[in-house]
Amino acid sequence: MSVRTYSAAQMRQAGSLKWTGITRADGSPTLGAWVAEMDFGTAPVVEEAIIGAIRGGFTGYQPTWLAPRLAEATAAYQSAVHGWQVEAGAIRPARSVLGALALALDTVVPAGAAVIVPTPAYMPFLTIPPAHGHPVIEVPALYTPGNGAVWALDLERIRRACEAGAGMLILCNPWNPTGRVLSEAELRALHAVLADYEVVVFSDEIHAPLVMDDSPFISYASLGPESAAHTVTAVAASKGWNIAALPCAQVILPDEALRERWMAADDQLAHEMNSYGALAAIAAYETASSPGGEPWLEEVKVIVRGNFDMLDEAFYSSPTSDSALCFHRPQATYLTWWDFSALCLEGDASPDAQLREVGGVSTNAGRSLGAGFERWARINVGCAPETAGLIVEAINATYPGMH
Ligand SMILES: Cc1ncc(COP(=O)(O)O)c(C=O)c1O
Repeated sequence: MSVRTYSAAQMRQAGSLKWTGITRADGSPTLGAWVAEMDFGTAPVVEEAIIGAIRGGFTGYQPTWLAPRLAEATAAYQSAVHGWQVEAGAIRPARSVLGALALALDTVVPAGAAVIVPTPAYMPFLTIPPAHGHPVIEVPALYTPGNGAVWALDLERIRRACEAGAGMLILCNPWNPTGRVLSEAELRALHAVLADYEVVVFSDEIHAPLVMDDSPFISYASLGPESAAHTVTAVAASKGWNIAALPCAQVILPDEALRERWMAADDQLAHEMNSYGALAAIAAYETASSPGGEPWLEEVKVIVRGNFDMLDEAFYSSPTSDSALCFHRPQATYLTWWDFSALCLEGDASPDAQLREVGGVSTNAGRSLGAGFERWARINVGCAPETAGLIVEAINATYPGMH
């Protein structure tokens, strides 16, 4: 195994945000199961790229060859791993995915136009648009427990929001926090709606390296020139290879007119890319595109799937069973999304507060992922199997006798 599975004690010692950022009210530590970090360090090729660069004297400003090399590696990765043939010249560097979202809001959407955010949503999608003068229209997903897909985009409500004048839709695919990988049919159905309106799609594909089952991952912009013409796609190696400390993203703009608008405004965003983040992404993408693939990433997926199996065993319930808690296996990401609303909650306490104070596990509060999800929680199982076992114990200790 090349993956290092750090224990809770080791992660606290390392001082990661997930393991030090949330404590109980009395200040005691919690099991870290919230922010999207994994307890696996990073891949050997990434470590070597960064350490080798520093030892070799690469500690200066961003050199001119770096962004083109990153674009080449990104294009090769998209082609080899996701089957999207995109020219390196269509790929721009960026400081981060959220930085790219902010620039998209400022440059390619009419000032003040509303932004459609399917919920549950990655928290900043609900706060960044208003900070840039764009109100958010939340569109709760269709939820069908028991159905394989479980979560689906509500196209009717998306159409109504377009009709009301929305200027952007934020598409998160793979979908944090539901774990969905949208199928080609779903993406085409979305395109059929959006094609009738002037709406830009910001397609956040940061979790695409983390597809856990055999679902094919398809970029919305890869459907064809019409979808690409209204789409800003943002990708990064930072989730798959667990290197959020090295901020770097890649923005894919196959449409020439849209790219020109972007490039007229993206100097600062490109300049602020972290050079080690770019070297890390190049090493990650080149390895994943090579005939042997990226064994580290494959091992990570084996561990995370094992954690899903553990949750399945502990919390599986058929749609007809009367179990209060049901685990939905994500198609992608190590993030899991739980409905605690059938459990008896005392007073106003939300599940994240109860899980933290009673079980000692820190999760993301459902309310921060969209209205109506106040009694949901997002639980990160990108961790060692022993830690996943402790998380299962913490859930059971918080809600004893729930089965
Ligand atoms: C869906 C999604 N997009 C973006 C980000 C953050 O990306 P960046 O650090 O490049 O802004 C995250 C981090 O958790 C995420 O889950």
